[in-house]
Amino acid sequence: MMVARTHSVALLGMTGSMVEVEADIGNGLPTLMIIGLPDTALSDARDRVRAAATNCGCALPHSKITVNLSPAALPKHGSTFDLAIAMAILAAEGTISAESVAGVVHLGELSLDGRLRPMNGVLPAIAAAARAGYRSFMVPEGNRHEAELVPGVVIVPVVSLRDAAIYHAGAFEPVVYEAIQGHDAHDTREPHHELADVVGNPDAVLALVAAAAGGHHMFLLGPPGAGKTMLASRLPGLLPDLDTESALEVSSVRSLAGAGVPRTLAVRPPFESPHHTATAAALIGGGSRLIRPGAAARASHGVLFLDEAPEFAVSVLDALRQPLESGVISIHRANAVARFPGSFQLVLAANPCPCGQYGAAESKCTCSPNTRRRYLARLSGPLLDRIDIQVQVRRVTAVELRLGDTEPRLTTVEARRTVELARERMARRLEGTGWRLNSQVPGEWLRSGPERLPHSFTAVLDRALERGGITMRGYDRILRVAWTLADLDGADQPSPEHVGRALYLRKSMSA
Ligand SMILES: Nc1ncnc2c1ncn2[C@@H]1O[C@H](COP(=O)(O)OP(=O)(O)OP(=O)(O)O)[C@@H](O)[C@H]1O
Ligand SMILES: [Mg+2]
Ligand SMILES: [Zn+2]
Repeated sequence: MMVARTHSVALLGMTGSMVEVEADIGNGLPTLMIIGLPDTALSDARDRVRAAATNCGCALPHSKITVNLSPAALPKHGSTFDLAIAMAILAAEGTISAESVAGVVHLGELSLDGRLRPMNGVLPAIAAAARAGYRSFMVPEGNRHEAELVPGVVIVPVVSLRDAAIYHAGAFEPVVYEAIQGHDAHDTREPHHELADVVGNPDAVLALVAAAAGGHHMFLLGPPGAGKTMLASRLPGLLPDLDTESALEVSSVRSLAGAGVPRTLAVRPPFESPHHTATAAALIGGGSRLIRPGAAARASHGVLFLDEAPEFAVSVLDALRQPLESGVISIHRANAVARFPGSFQLVLAANPCPCGQYGAAESKCTCSPNTRRRYLARLSGPLLDRIDIQVQVRRVTAVELRLGDTEPRLTTVEARRTVELARERMARRLEGTGWRLNSQVPGEWLRSGPERLPHSFTAVLDRALERGGITMRGYDRILRVAWTLADLDGADQPSPEHVGRALYLRKSMSA
């Protein structure tokens, strides 16, 4: 046997492509030549494979070895081809079974002593290969649990190059290596943020439930200590469990981010709250060689919370526009585009002014009207255009907090159930339209589509529009929220009262 083949996976963003790794052993001076790897990765891989093989007692043949990774044009970053390269060489030499090697996709970077290092992105790599029809995968022991999350595949976890060779041939004496551990499995239990802990502020609570039901982006405005952060952290708890496909996507992004993936598939929506000093790369993703997902991608299928939103750099906020429009994050590099999922629910929180006191009960705001305007203007335009729900959060008084309120408070479990029922309603109603959530429905369709409301129902909105109290965009957003309020109530369409409440939720905000 002089030529042997196996497969590995190249990742670009979340996109995995199959790579064929072919080894040829010919006559000539002993060299190891690798074709098809870019730049520096090439000599690094050569040195690692050679050292690892020697150090674990399955030294490479003293011949002219040529390894070809194809397709050549495919960008191949990272060091995850080591294992495939080593297996192809040993199979070409006849030391291990070429047939066995050909039937397995190999993923993993070698350390110099011959052990396999866990890698980022095992989950999306295997998911991609499984979609392409591959079934058997050899992965570093440290990635075992994550690999096993992909349904319908056979995972062979190995500790070292030697273990890998033994699996394919049994020609070596077993040596016991200690596995290099991956990231600790991350805890799937979300901290429980109970909705019923929120005292008062019934408008804000209703707005939160509506945001969860309709998938509406949300803006919370209020003075310090009003409970904006508290409310936002309760949103993920109100969202339904993820379906398997979305859950795999969420874990795949975590895997690529090197953030640790739970042992069992996490089905709760993620919550990410980057600090306002975050860079665009931290929010959107970036990095020079291996492009890593940022907070927005990690929040996909869940909630991205920007606390103190006006404090974020304008360029960072701008970077959110593209994912908000398309649900996809694209990161452009010289010769490639990395794509990550970006369908998160955005929650912004802000104080009404730099000192935070404007509009509070005994307001002691020290900001000039100009300063106030400029503060929130940082958020204006395309970003706010995407936000259906804007709500003013009031500071509850110490007495209210101490006594609680007399109204029974909605619990997280009750609210989630209501949200699930509302979502079923809207999914049924929107069947065949391609939209699933009210937040996805364009204003045009609401105003003149088959579900247009009678004029008498929207009279308050029409008047507000005429008076200039709301804009046309605002009109559409209020209609969307009115539909969600109706779905939450189990109504077939919004009543004038739903429209009024949607308008009220919005008007309770000065901006
Ligand atoms: N409505 C409320 N019910 C119960 N507790 C509340 C309420 N509002 C505020 N609190 C309490 O006050 C604390 C501060 O609230 P939180 O941090 O959410 O305010 P904030 O609006 O985000 O303020 P900041 O603008 O300073 O960030 C909360 O941890 C909570 O304990
Ligand atoms: Mg806060
Ligand atoms: Zn102020």
